[in-house]
Amino acid sequence: MPTTERLDPDIIGANLKTNRIGRKILVYKTTSSTNDIAAKYAKNKDNDGLAIFTEEQTAGRGRAGTKWHSGRADSILCSIVLTDCECNAELLSLACAVAVAEAIGKPANKQTKIKWPNDIIVSGKKVAGILLESKAIDGSTVYILGIGINCHQKKKSFPAELQQTATSIDIESRSIVDRNSLAKRLLTSIDHWLEMAQKDSDRVTNRWRDLSIQLGHGVTLLYNRRKFSGNCIGVDPEKGLILELESGARKFFDAAHTSIVK
Ligand code: BTN
Repeated sequence: MPTTERLDPDIIGANLKTNRIGRKILVYKTTSSTNDIAAKYAKNKDNDGLAIFTEEQTAGRGRAGTKWHSGRADSILCSIVLTDCECNAELLSLACAVAVAEAIGKPANKQTKIKWPNDIIVSGKKVAGILLESKAIDGSTVYILGIGINCHQKKKSFPAELQQTATSIDIESRSIVDRNSLAKRLLTSIDHWLEMAQKDSDRVTNRWRDLSIQLGHGVTLLYNRRKFSGNCIGVDPEKGLILELESGARKFFDAAHTSIVK
């Protein structure tokens, strides 16, 4: 990694053409989890759109209580504060997955795909993940959108158990991604897709359909600890993933209570 490639809020913010996301940008050297820092800022409504980055997390977390692994200065580790959101968590999660997939596509120089709810996949491996958390503050719901993108990792940088299933942008592109440019692309893409989510949810679900690896395929998942299998026939912007079960019935699965088995 070139030593000049440090995350810099001025570089990320220069000529950033967003309406909402990244109006304020903070870069930390090290934090526990950017989602925890963001949750503190979320107490102030004026911090809507604030983007927090860090070079290192000592307690990064993923969905369902998992640990999010990253080294020093090898990733984009970002949390965005959303205190003023008109859309529901399901649509927010879809819009964010679309936004992250689009932001990564060009630098990875490969097709990016979405594995519902929150995994971004390149060449069949996970390159990024999204952790959407919500909190009730003064009677309204605020969201923290946490995004982790693997950038400079080599295969051996990942823990042994992830080496066959994880990848990074550098591995895929066979070059070295500029994280400041990627951070700017990310904020621009999130700004665009959150605006779309508020204006026209069909645009979000249609784009999700283009990018989904599960659509039209068999999916097995755990919903409230019960196992379901079926063919994925789409997503609903309020109710989540739609499976046609082996019985022929259609069932909706919301992201908060569901984890994918296969
Ligand atoms: C997942 O795939 O399980 C979601 C991973 C989300 C990781 C990011 S890194 C920035 C933010 N801070 C965290 O502690 N987690 C999210």
